[in-house]
Amino acid sequence: MNQSIQPIRLLVCVGPRCDAEGRGRALLADVQNAIRAAFPDELADGRLKLATRECLRLCTSAPVVRLEPSGDAFSGPDVDELMRDIAAAITSEK
Ligand code: FES
Repeated sequence: MNQSIQPIRLLVCVGPRCDAEGRGRALLADVQNAIRAAFPDELADGRLKLATRECLRLCTSAPVVRLEPSGDAFSGPDVDELMRDIAAAITSEK
């Protein structure tokens, strides 16, 4: 791994607004499964990381995720679209 490349981080909010009725943690579970299936090598070598946050200060009526380093944020994202965005971010980091 090139040390000058910043890892892509996907932050999933499981804070009180996002996780109302368990929606944040349900999204987290879906995202975890999708990421493990789509990006096993990137997870293993640290190019991609998944983490949770208690509030991303972007509270909406749907769970929020943020991609770093781009800062792109998504409210109630479609998991398949999110995987495409992650793939694009990984490609642009190469
Ligand atoms: S609780 Fe999720 S962004 Fe605030």
